[in-house]
Amino acid sequence: MKRIVILISGRGSNMEALLRAGLPGRTVAVISNVADAAGLDKARAHGIATAVVNHRAYPDRPSFDSALTVEIDRHRPDLVVLAGFMRVLTDDFVKRYTGRLLNIHPSLLPAFPGLHTHRRALEAGVRIHGCTVHFVTSDLDHGPTVIQAAVPVLDGDSEESLAARVLAQEHVIYPQAVKWFCEGRLRLSDDGRVLVENGRAAGGVLVSPGLDSV
Ligand code: GRF
Repeated sequence: MKRIVILISGRGSNMEALLRAGLPGRTVAVISNVADAAGLDKARAHGIATAVVNHRAYPDRPSFDSALTVEIDRHRPDLVVLAGFMRVLTDDFVKRYTGRLLNIHPSLLPAFPGLHTHRRALEAGVRIHGCTVHFVTSDLDHGPTVIQAAVPVLDGDSEESLAARVLAQEHVIYPQAVKWFCEGRLRLSDDGRVLVENGRAAGGVLVSPGLDSV
């Protein structure tokens, strides 16, 4: 079984979707940079070991990242999953975990990298929005795409209603991507391409490259 470490900063709904998905992998720790992140209580309720590495306790990014690395590596993960982890990571950190570091971003990348994606989608007037699971590279919110789900933007949508529609799909595609990884079907090639073996075509919501039943 692959060993998974999940990093969070807040609510932890994606983390909880992963814990509930019955993945063929074992979540060995949930680590937060925020001591009172609500997701930590949810992780404990699932019987998962938790740890806090508070970025405020470190003078700069490299020293925080190296402390975080020590905590992560203690759990010997095969996969590190960023689930609402709100810190920009150093190149050294990203390189250390290349090919085994996933992130979820609440937009159809490469549209709307960065923060406030739903507000920006509404302001731009797009009719289709969504979410992306990608391998993390040093290019923030731009890593190679694993899977995306698209949702319509409806007349009268608020930032909240659009965020909720996207979040429901985040909770579908993140477990799917992690499941593929745990099954050894998902990898990043040396030339930076995502390879998914036997990702099946999806019905219903538009999802690429396809969903298994999770
Ligand atoms: C999600 O929208 C995720 O895409 C983004 O931050 C949010 C985290 O939500 N990176 P949660 O903590 O998983 O509930």
